[in-house]
Amino acid sequence: MIRALHRWPGLLALALLAVLSLSGAALSVFPAAERLSAPQPGAGQSVADLAALVAATHPGLEEIRRSPSGRITAWWFRGGTAGSAVVDPVTGGDLGPADPNPVERWLTNLHRSLFLGDSGRLAMAAGAAAMLVLALSGAALIARRVGGWRHWFARLRGPIAGRLHVEISRIAVFGLLFSAGTALWMTASTFNLLPDDAPRPPLPAAISGTTRLPIDRMAALRSVPVDSLRKLSFPQEGDLQDLFTLVTDSGTGLINQGTGEMLAWAEATPWQKVSETIYMLHTGQGAATFGLILGLLALSVPILGMTGLLVWAQGRRGWTHPKDNAPAARARDVILVGSEGGSTWGFAETLARSLREAGQAVHVAPMTSFDPNRYPRAERFLILAATYGDGDAPEAAKGFLDRLGGMRKPPAAPFAVLGFGDRSFPAYCAFAAEVDRLARAKGWASLLPMDTVDRQSPQDFARWGRALGDALGLGSGPIDFVDLA
Ligand SMILES: Cc1cc2nc3c(=O)[nH]c(=O)nc-3n(C[C@H](O)[C@H](O)[C@H](O)COP(=O)(O)O)c2cc1C
Repeated sequence: MIRALHRWPGLLALALLAVLSLSGAALSVFPAAERLSAPQPGAGQSVADLAALVAATHPGLEEIRRSPSGRITAWWFRGGTAGSAVVDPVTGGDLGPADPNPVERWLTNLHRSLFLGDSGRLAMAAGAAAMLVLALSGAALIARRVGGWRHWFARLRGPIAGRLHVEISRIAVFGLLFSAGTALWMTASTFNLLPDDAPRPPLPAAISGTTRLPIDRMAALRSVPVDSLRKLSFPQEGDLQDLFTLVTDSGTGLINQGTGEMLAWAEATPWQKVSETIYMLHTGQGAATFGLILGLLALSVPILGMTGLLVWAQGRRGWTHPKDNAPAARARDVILVGSEGGSTWGFAETLARSLREAGQAVHVAPMTSFDPNRYPRAERFLILAATYGDGDAPEAAKGFLDRLGGMRKPPAAPFAVLGFGDRSFPAYCAFAAEVDRLARAKGWASLLPMDTVDRQSPQDFARWGRALGDALGLGSGPIDFVDLA
């Protein structure tokens, strides 16, 4: 179940997740670059100092904004035209255009919505949901593979693609979980599903119409350091009733331009603060190093996609029907295979070939297809079963124990179990041992004592082949495992 939960969202969302993660990784570089290039305010500089400086150099100033990286931008309206620039907080002079870098804008649009507006946003949210499911199910699969959460960094064995997939995942999964979870939160916020709007301060009833106080003398701006500024909007030129609107990281306030006093204040809500923190951490805007780490971990997604595809293909490889396979109804030798990584199928084919060369009609099939009534002519059942997880059944043997346990009468032909496993796992060949135990408990006659093959050892397999040849009265000659030994 967990494996299916991991496999299908992974395969279906592979391309989407590659776009999402690669664009996210590329975007994580911009806040760091902005942080490095943004001139920092002078020590102890207040919003009043900054606003006075920028207003003096920018007649018609309408708004000053400070990005989380510390970049200050000024917006003005002068002589009938609007203008904007990044400004130096120390001199108030222009440093360059305020327009975002076109590459960053392009990547942001791709990352958020694939240039498709709200439907693209929903598609990307589905991608993030798939990533969340993949990260959670992947973490559960890793824990199962290494024998519990406590052994998270245990040494891995098995085919290279699967090992690489797990090696990368066990580091990247935390970042991917975080990125996916925060992306979903931000989508919910964008679609107004969260109560995280900034509260508006109540408009004061009557405002004195006196002329504007010099900005650097306004008490409500003098007490705010530039570091906590988000935005300062100026009153309409000549409108003495209008107010300054100040947004900081703790709330929004309205300031009387004639007295410089705070007339109304709305504190940021906990929802708003959580949403802002999530935004900051997801985008890296205001947390550039964290963003870079998330970006780096996101680069693992295409690699995980490729190695995951390989693992899936390896698992499927064994399912192709072997050549010369006798139909179940005609088979004398029934070879049942419980494999996950595919290697046991190779052993099964070698065994089948040897038996066919000895003149037998051989049927090879996954253990999942076992049904005791399907093989009326069977003379023996040879069960080749690998073990996974902490002694669990491999993919191609799911449900076998239930069917075996549910049998009313065992087949007349005897069985032999060969377990494939790895002695470094505590539950060595535990699944095969359970098959053997249950089959005996159901009264099924045994052809051979159960044997095991450690780490796909050809010698172990050849030893069992000789024992089988003896049991069948064929001697070890016809069962030719020499090519494996
Ligand atoms: C993720 C994983 C978990 C495994 N768990 C066990 C185990 O619990 N006990 C064991 O004896 N072998 C375990 N093995 C080893 C395999 O059973 C062994 O390599 C087997 O030959 C694989 O056969 P297959 O390629 O047909 O799936 C595990 C291997 C992997 C990759």
